Amino acid sequence: MSYHLDGKIALVTGGSKGLGKVISTRLAEAGAMVIVNYANYKEAAEQTAVSIQSSGGKAATVRGDITDEQAVAQLVTEVEATCGGTIDILVNNATGPQPELSIEESTWNDYLDQLVFFVKAPLLLTKAVLPGMKKKGEGRIITIGSEVVQLGNPNFSNYVTAKSSQIGMTRSWANELGPFGITVNLVNPGFIPVERHSEVNPLTLREYAKGVPLRKMGEPRDIGNAVAFLASSEARFITGQSISVNGGNTFGI
Ligand SMILES: NC(=O)c1ccc[n+]([C@@H]2O[C@H](COP(=O)([O-])OP(=O)(O)OC[C@H]3O[C@@H](n4cnc5c(N)ncnc54)[C@H](OP(=O)(O)O)[C@@H]3O)[C@@H](O)[C@H]2O)c1
Repeated sequence: MSYHLDGKIALVTGGSKGLGKVISTRLAEAGAMVIVNYANYKEAAEQTAVSIQSSGGKAATVRGDITDEQAVAQLVTEVEATCGGTIDILVNNATGPQPELSIEESTWNDYLDQLVFFVKAPLLLTKAVLPGMKKKGEGRIITIGSEVVQLGNPNFSNYVTAKSSQIGMTRSWANELGPFGITVNLVNPGFIPVERHSEVNPLTLREYAKGVPLRKMGEPRDIGNAVAFLASSEARFITGQSISVNGGNTFGI
């Protein structure tokens, strides 16, 4: 199914590679003008934008560390100037390093590092896009969570804790922003190999897939499709939801 996002402006944080790249591509296929955000690797972001443009889509890039308040304000102003309009769709996707640490190895700063990416950055970005969305009386805020919240992976509590916070954040924001026509949802990928997983042993992938009810690995496009749906007018009555896209690997909240 093809969703129609013509005339919409979408900002995808960490859109240069991994899931963000495919989310950006999918939103552009649906007709949105997509702004591909990145922090460090300009070339990767430009490649994503060029690949979208060469398929007939509309895309531009914006550099900015989404964990930094000033940088976020600046990048949103830059996007709005480039696009000549305010942001309709915000996808909170970017991630930093995800260290696996036992409790003994973990420090409070290891937890804070993850909270900064998965709670602080979405807060800064949401605050920056809200004036435009409220003025229009509509908007979409879509955050990329993770199935680790249901799985409770050991030696990963810094990441699991921060991803868990996104459920409460999504529900509270949905209640607060519903009266303004703004929907807020969480999309939880299963393990979906992207560039940074190139070293993962194929045996690990096969073992994971064996435990998934659909008996296969997901693809980045599965996440892109879910995001495109939630961004579309077809999803106008869906808000405050936590949606797993993981072949049925987890059930529940
Ligand atoms: N892939 C999976 O299996 C999986 C599973 C569950 C959940 N997720 C979630 O899905 C999302 C995407 O994950 P991924 O695997 O696609 O990650 P990824 O391939 O590592 O990509 C991360 C992206 O974030 C950007 N980024 C890093 N620091 C940034 C900063 N300070 N400001 C702005 N952008 C920044 C990177 O750009 P630069 O390289 O330029 O810094 C890059 O574009 C994350 O929220 C992750 O937790 C992924």
